Amino acid sequence: LFFDGVPLAKSVQEMSVNGDEPPPEFHVKDGSLGCTDSSHLSLSVSVPIIDLSLLSSSEKELQKLRFALESGGCFQAIGHGMSSSFIDKVRGVAKQFFGLPREEKLKYSRAANGAEGYGHDRVVSEKQVLDWHSRLFLRVFPEKQRKLNLWPEKPDNFREVLHEYYTKLKQMMDLLFKAMEKSLDLQENSFLGQFGDNPVMHVRFNFYPPCSKPDKVLGLKPHSDRSSVTVLLQDEEVEGLQILKDERWVTVPVIPHALVVNIGDQMQIMSNGIFKSPLHRVKTNKAKLRISVATLYEPEPEKEIGPVEALIDDKKPRLYRNVTNYASLNYEWYQKGKVPLEEVKFH
Ligand code: SIN
Ligand code: FE2
Repeated sequence: LFFDGVPLAKSVQEMSVNGDEPPPEFHVKDGSLGCTDSSHLSLSVSVPIIDLSLLSSSEKELQKLRFALESGGCFQAIGHGMSSSFIDKVRGVAKQFFGLPREEKLKYSRAANGAEGYGHDRVVSEKQVLDWHSRLFLRVFPEKQRKLNLWPEKPDNFREVLHEYYTKLKQMMDLLFKAMEKSLDLQENSFLGQFGDNPVMHVRFNFYPPCSKPDKVLGLKPHSDRSSVTVLLQDEEVEGLQILKDERWVTVPVIPHALVVNIGDQMQIMSNGIFKSPLHRVKTNKAKLRISVATLYEPEPEKEIGPVEALIDDKKPRLYRNVTNYASLNYEWYQKGKVPLEEVKFH
């Protein structure tokens, strides 16, 4: 019933509206969903707040960044240069899109074997536990690779807002990468220099409708990101994202106009394991729907990436081999139940 090529009988959004119980395909197997937030740790220690506007002038802020990326691999960015009203506008178009009638959204449906478009994630095995969410996944950069037929025409300003958001986000990424390099005493472009002339940016609009079984069903199962860095615009009020830190699931609190930044696998590789790509998941919620906008920043697929030479020495031997097209390899490994970062270990 749920396999690709065969449309879902009902979307999670419809099941949610009808008050249907989530079918067994959505139930996690290990029953270990209990929220294990650590009460002894203050949340700002687990997920630090970093002011990006201070990174070029303040050594202290730079050290804070390094510590955040070495320990949990995640922080909340303020001072990112986008106004609160603009952030609200981005959330607004996401909300309006998911609020459209189903027939309208289906105009942008993901093809059976494609990645981009609206719908649920690909289902490749009968054993796959399904996630309680729908998404709209699009490639934003390189600009000439945009599949505009999958870009919503409603709301009217969707494309325009998206374009503006990504112009700003790219500037923010440049600043962040410079700071990450500096924090490790690396030469400029040690990381970005590996990206090629046409780095890739994907956006994933996530929609998590209310779910009657939050103790059995996840919005998104535990995963690490294949990206170098992911920037997440959380819902303005509903929490849900949890990061695994010191073997505990820590909820990332909502700070309305901050952007959550996390390291992805490709940066863990390039930094020779210094920056950590955290496992994270999304909890469901009984009463409220949640929307988020995740942006994945990746090198050009054909470019070989690997640990920066300056981060390899006798004390810190090479941890990962060089790899090309990590994003699609990552997908295959996940499907086979393998841990992608283990597959690129250097022996
Ligand atoms: C993601 O991991 O891609 C999404 C996280 C979220 O919705 O908070
Ligand atoms: Fe993720």
